Amino acid sequence: MLKVCVMVSGGGTNLEAILQAVEDGRITNAAVTLVISNNPDAYALTRAASHGVPSECISPKAFPDREAFHEALYERLCQEKPDLIVLAGFLVAIPPRIIEAFEGRIINIHPSLIPSFCGVGYYGLRVHEAALARGVKITGATVHYVDGGMDTGPILLQKAVEVLPGDDARTLQRRVMEQAEWILLPQAINMIANP
Ligand code: GAR
Repeated sequence: MLKVCVMVSGGGTNLEAILQAVEDGRITNAAVTLVISNNPDAYALTRAASHGVPSECISPKAFPDREAFHEALYERLCQEKPDLIVLAGFLVAIPPRIIEAFEGRIINIHPSLIPSFCGVGYYGLRVHEAALARGVKITGATVHYVDGGMDTGPILLQKAVEVLPGDDARTLQRRVMEQAEWILLPQAINMIANP
């Protein structure tokens, strides 16, 4: 049984997709044992509670500096000992110490077809704004392993999604979530849990 820790910052629709997939059997041999948010107001925390999954907030605001915040994250993860860490809309750069300790065991979902519209500054709606500004006709989502760079780790899964005339960043974000993210992330976890 793969022990999974999901890390979130906001709405938690990807977390919801994971928890539903576990409940309806599309993910087997895996259990989400902990949800960590850096944001106390993240709706993802409510979603975790409604599925009966333990959740915790580790907020940078509770610490004197970034180093102390990173140390608290590291300590909590070492205590939990997850087999897999899933970054599901976690908008904090993972410190090197955590990447080293959990090498090859951290995956991230990114809302574009990497290497397009990724790297520093590309997160959430900004990714879709950039795709629309460039005028691409196809975008999508990527699940990749996390390495020391920003969105640079080995790609695990990708799925393309059409950009439609009249799209704005929100309509495009929603389509990418529905047609790619909420499918890919559970699929990736299930693949890792059932090698
Ligand atoms: C998702 O679209 C995810 O791909 C993106 O944040 C959103 C979180 O939504 N992540 C990134 O941009 C990471 N660079 P959610 O909280 O509803 O799952």
